[in-house]
Amino acid sequence: MSAGFCSLDGKVALVTGASRGIGASVALGLARAGATLVINYQSNKEKAQKVLEQVKEFSRESFLCAFDVGNAEEVEKSVQEIVGKKERIDILVCNAGIARDSLIPRSSPEHFEEVFRTNLMGTINPVRSVSRSMMKNRYGRILCMSSVVGEMGNKGQSAYAASKSALFGFCKSVARELASRNVTCNVIAPGFIETEMTGELPEEAKKAYLEGIPLQRFGSGQEIASAVQFLVSEEAGYITGATLDVNGGLLMR
Ligand SMILES: NC(=O)c1ccc[n+]([C@@H]2O[C@H](COP(=O)([O-])OP(=O)(O)OC[C@H]3O[C@@H](n4cnc5c(N)ncnc54)[C@H](OP(=O)(O)O)[C@@H]3O)[C@@H](O)[C@H]2O)c1
Repeated sequence: MSAGFCSLDGKVALVTGASRGIGASVALGLARAGATLVINYQSNKEKAQKVLEQVKEFSRESFLCAFDVGNAEEVEKSVQEIVGKKERIDILVCNAGIARDSLIPRSSPEHFEEVFRTNLMGTINPVRSVSRSMMKNRYGRILCMSSVVGEMGNKGQSAYAASKSALFGFCKSVARELASRNVTCNVIAPGFIETEMTGELPEEAKKAYLEGIPLQRFGSGQEIASAVQFLVSEEAGYITGATLDVNGGLLMR
């Protein structure tokens, strides 16, 4: 399809949580770049179907694959099915995530478990399952979606922040383990991106966040998709264990 810079022609990409928001933009971006997409979602089949229709304009062999990223058995079974069908997975984008806010004195162990199950185990499960096929093929690009909140913390988001900051150590370890097999593993830490997740924020909170963002606006899913496309391309082959901040300057390191 597109043979230019960061072309993903011929690659097979699995994007978790791609029925809406950032994941949908990422799936569309990777399809535009030439990849065949496996679009994962949990329950929102109607929205996932709409994303697939858009993706198919660029990549006809793409398909949907529903599974719960927090369920290791479901993930393993689905990954085996995809590998059986397409022979390999070249690119894995672990994007599925939830935000469940609560102040620490009011939070419960169940609250933390729910967030960790999707955001942390929901990244670990697909990486575990896909890594075997990537190692065998001596090629792979793994991308994990963290958050600026995992770097800075945020009031009411201790569970979310803990689940997202754990990804930095996880990805660096995976990067070290799989490097000899030409498999890279990187993290993107988005700032505030306009999706349903941020749509739920009260106007007051949005205003307060905007004041701290040097670029004075929230980001778009497309802007995250562009960063993902680069990090999962052949051109980014010498980048591993890295975190790319895409946050409008909210946090500068
Ligand atoms: N939006 C932001 O400002 C922002 C900032 C930093 C980081 N992030 C991170 O970026 C990622 C995407 O965020 P978003 O704003 O696009 O979220 P979103 O609009 O709420 O979409 C979440 C996606 O994850 C899927 N999902 C949730 N739980 C799942 C599970 N157990 N198994 C499989 N899929 C599951 C949903 O599928 P269904 O449609 O089937 O429910 C949906 O496709 C998340 O990891 C989030 O933490 C977002």
